[in-house]
This record gives sequence, C-alpha cells and structure tokens, in this order.
Amino acid sequence: RKNLVVAIDGYSSCGKSTLAKALAKKLGFIYIDSGAMYRAVTLYFLRNKVDMTNQAAIDDALHHIELNFHSRDYESHILLNGEEVSEEIRQMPVSENVSEVSANKQVRHDMVKQQQRMGKSKNIVMDGRDIGTAVFEDAQVKFFMTADPKIRAERRHKEMIAKGDNFTTLEEVFENLAHRDYADTTRKESPLVRAEDAIILDNTDLTQQEQLDFALEKVNPFL
Ligand code: C5P
Repeated sequence: RKNLVVAIDGYSSCGKSTLAKALAKKLGFIYIDSGAMYRAVTLYFLRNKVDMTNQAAIDDALHHIELNFHSRDYESHILLNGEEVSEEIRQMPVSENVSEVSANKQVRHDMVKQQQRMGKSKNIVMDGRDIGTAVFEDAQVKFFMTADPKIRAERRHKEMIAKGDNFTTLEEVFENLAHRDYADTTRKESPLVRAEDAIILDNTDLTQQEQLDFALEKVNPFL
C-alpha cells in the first residue's frame, strides 16, 4: 500500500486512543477511533431496544445506522445518524453492552468494511482490537498495548470523574474492564490477539511523552 497505516490494538483502557491521537497529531495523519464505531452502534441498539438474540433485527438496525467522524484537533467526534454522541458512548450503559454487540459477525463485517474504506488512500492511525489482525493486516506499523489492570482502572475512573461522572465506582470500572478484556479475547469473530508482527508496548510505568517517543521511533523509518 502507498499510504501509511499505523495500527494500535490492545486491552481496554490502556491508553490506545491517547497515544493514537498524539501520534496522529505529530505526524499529520488522520486518527480513527474504531471503538467509537462499535460504541455508537451499541447506543443505537440500546435506544431502539434491538433484541441481541434476533439476527434479523440486528441486520435491519444496521441498515438504519449511518456513522460519520468529525475530526477536530484529532479528537474524534462521532455522529450517529447526524447526532453528536461522543459523550454518551463513553457512559456505563454503552460500556456494559458494547462487547456483546461487537462480538456479532454482521456488526463486525459492516464496521470493518467502513474502516477499510477510511484507510484506503490516506495516512491514518487507527486504534481498536483487530486493526493489525483483521482490518489492516498489511499495516506497516503495528502496536499491541497493555498495562497493569489496576492502573488501567484507576486511569479510566479518574477520567470519568473529570468528566463529571461521580456515580461509577472504581470497582465498577475495574469489573467492566475485566469483563470486556475477557469477552474481547475469547469471542469467535476476530478476537483481540497480538498480531505476530505487532510491537508490544506496556505503558504501566511510562509517561505519555515516553510512549509517543517510542512510537515515533518505530514509525520514522516508514516516513
Ligand atoms: O476502544 P474502546 O474501549 O472504546 O472499544 C469498546 C469496545 O468495542 C471493546 O471493548 C470491544 O468490544 C469493541 N471493539 C472491537 N473492535 C475494535 C474496537 C473496539 O471489538 N476494533
């Protein structure tokens, strides 16, 4: 491929999007948050009470969903049928249901197709669970991120409080991350797994700047 693709996969809440945004900004690439797409689909399913055991209902709902990104300052703003839902998709109801929705074969098929279209000709940084293994197997640079689960829960909990969510406890966040990691790594359809050629990045003890420097060093040869 002529365009450069940086794929960032890894466990829930280990700083994938923070690194991806910083990297995209530094390189002038487009940042695409694939998780936001699964979250927006989940929000639509919850709002419309789509029965997750009814595949025909899921297929029908997918036909009524249009997703778009508004890239401002490399923050990803996602639109669900024209409505900005970037805040709502981060809240607990979506987090608690997204892994079930994202395990659905048809949901994945639709999202992967859109993601591949977005990375067809432009230089991009995309983060998710299957970017280096399924969406862009031919990505030039792949990272697989991980961090201590307790640290991850603490970071995410702090972030939620900063956003005004004082109702969710640290334990609830920890449980949600553990649940999603389990569901994401054990599902049948493109489970979360490190691509053979992915560079492992454990950021438990790394600052954001150190992670960015590490990533830039790996991407630089391809620029
Ligand atoms: O990245 P984020 O934590 O927002 O993703 C939310 C959920 O979406 C994940 O727990 C996973 O179930 C699903 N996901 C996925 N494949 C991706 C990105 C996210 O299955 N590429």
